[in-house]
Amino acid sequence: MSDQNINQKIQQLRKQLHYHNYRYYVLDDPEISDAEYDRMMRELQTLEHRHPELVTPDSPTQRVGAAPLEAFAAIEHTLPMLSLDNAFDEGEIREFDQRIKKLLAPQSKVEYVVEPKFDGLAVELVYINGAFSTGSTRGDGFVGEDITSNLKTIKTIPLHLIEDKISAPERLEVRGEAVFSIKDFQTLNRQREQNGELLFANPRNAAAGSLRQLDPKITASRPLDFFCYGMGQAVGINFESHWQFLDTISQWGLKVTPLRRLCPDLESVFSFYHELLEQREQLPHEIDGMVIKVNDFGQRETIGVKTRSPRWAIAYKFPARQETTQILNITAQVGRTGALTPVAILKPVKIGGVEVSRATLHNQDEIDKKDIRVGDWAVIQRAGDVIPEVVKVITSRRSGEQTKYQLPSKCPVCGGHVVRLPDEAAHRCQNLSCPAQLKQQIRHFASRNAMDIEGLGDKLVNQLVDNGLVKSPADLYFLTKDQWSQLERMAEKSAQNIIDSLEKSKDVSLERFIYSLGIRFVGEHAARLLAEHFQSLEKLKHANYDELISIHEIGPRSAQSIVQFFSEAGNLATIDRLLQAGIKIQFPKKSAPAQTLAGKTFVFTGALENFTRHEAEQLVASLGGRAASAVSKNTDYVVVGAEPGSKEEKARQLGIEIISEDEFRRLVNQ
Ligand code: IVH
Repeated sequence: MSDQNINQKIQQLRKQLHYHNYRYYVLDDPEISDAEYDRMMRELQTLEHRHPELVTPDSPTQRVGAAPLEAFAAIEHTLPMLSLDNAFDEGEIREFDQRIKKLLAPQSKVEYVVEPKFDGLAVELVYINGAFSTGSTRGDGFVGEDITSNLKTIKTIPLHLIEDKISAPERLEVRGEAVFSIKDFQTLNRQREQNGELLFANPRNAAAGSLRQLDPKITASRPLDFFCYGMGQAVGINFESHWQFLDTISQWGLKVTPLRRLCPDLESVFSFYHELLEQREQLPHEIDGMVIKVNDFGQRETIGVKTRSPRWAIAYKFPARQETTQILNITAQVGRTGALTPVAILKPVKIGGVEVSRATLHNQDEIDKKDIRVGDWAVIQRAGDVIPEVVKVITSRRSGEQTKYQLPSKCPVCGGHVVRLPDEAAHRCQNLSCPAQLKQQIRHFASRNAMDIEGLGDKLVNQLVDNGLVKSPADLYFLTKDQWSQLERMAEKSAQNIIDSLEKSKDVSLERFIYSLGIRFVGEHAARLLAEHFQSLEKLKHANYDELISIHEIGPRSAQSIVQFFSEAGNLATIDRLLQAGIKIQFPKKSAPAQTLAGKTFVFTGALENFTRHEAEQLVASLGGRAASAVSKNTDYVVVGAEPGSKEEKARQLGIEIISEDEFRRLVNQ
């Protein structure tokens, strides 16, 4: 290909990728398959790799990868980013409308555009000739922070505008809100809780916290969304009205809320308000009201602005989803993984139409940080279908009778020891046979890579625990055929099948057995390391912290958890009973295969021809390597089979070696 042709090809690919990105992320309506998208992306990457001089910052390949910053640079806004006045009832909106009409010629008709008021972080994007150039926070309204690299990782922000119908102007400043969906916010907080990190108070804080990160890779890992709702300066194009502006930018591929309405009068503004309010609980994003804006830009000019806010727009806030009530008591709830969650028992109160009598306190740190005491008056918040939580306590209302709360050291369900492991936010019951944890434990115990008890599905496990037939995984092996047959939907034949698979499961390797115990922080890989190191269950049982931590790849968290596990009498009894049931542990052979992949991490994507995923992972493990499920900077090889997923792209972006199945076979010598 000639240089000119290559450049043309690159331009064409970029244009297609921008378009398909828009179909996928903004419209949520992809036109082509993921595989096709990936192929186009790969082709572009290859061409850019060969011609680095042709790479541009708005290329679809440039979404992630920027290096961490020392600090954010300042960006001055061409036009100040104003804030909004608030109104809380119809009366205040009528006054707003009257004020406006006084400023316009008599009898003027005013149309309003109404949009949801998003609760996130306000941002300005600048497009130069259609290419995304910089993005900044609102800051003090005049000067914000340059967060360009972070914004580039948000898939709903186009790196280049789509110019099929209307060409992009010389300069376009678009304002909007970066937001977190309620669901993604909950998922993120759950992960943070598991990692012992501090929780975000609400989706807005999660959005702001994710964008004000010096390392764009952290932002890239957060599922942020972006809605455009306003204009800064535009050079080379004229808009007559806000409605026209929104329509045009959405044709350029910028995301605009579908919940916008052009209202000819106040009555239709009010009816839209009630519609939105009704939908509020079902919306994917947090909205705290709506924004009413004069549509006509000429009229806006006449009406003018105040120092901090325009006269032509107002926020009409929804009723608060916070209420004040008293914390009558605090109790601890035991979850499936043994985590104790403190729960505030409240004097019942109605919040947004729903009666609330309990609120989660998340964990002990949260209680300590917010200094929550039994008897306190507190502000309770309910958002969407999020579990109600305590925002803060009102210390000025303390009578002196309030008492501090500490999670119990004994499990309220089984009396087992409650321990908080280092680096964990949660306190956990350590007793393997605690009924609260039992179902989950048994499911894990029976799972394919653990004891592999075929046919023992969730429904059976539920029945066994609910009927009190099984109080520890060991009990499974002592059930009689009669007992099995008495369970729901259990014919004699299936009872025999279960008994057969239990029998079959008794021959088990040491590493599988260790894994099946469900010790926290001991996954398959750690179980294998422990089996290889100790070669005996007895030795593992008596290992102390120092010995455990001396094993390569066993960290303090796992070591502590292992010691704790084997010091719990209930766990030791379960193991004894398992051995009594006839479990025969196969010890690893001394002559393990040469550890040719020691220290190497593999990730598999797509279907392999010669191995199942599990076999390939086992093979890697048997040679001393490890298989991970997600690509990160610690990955050494990504093995690509047929129809690979997004992992391949991620690997490319991180510059990780990508190998085919054949190359993998050569590596493992098969
Ligand atoms: S218009 C001058 N539209 O609310 C007009 N703002 O309290 C100001 N916001 O800083 C912006 N949704 O962060 C506008 N549909 C929307 C909005 C919105 C949320 C935020 C924005 C602004 C704040 C003002």
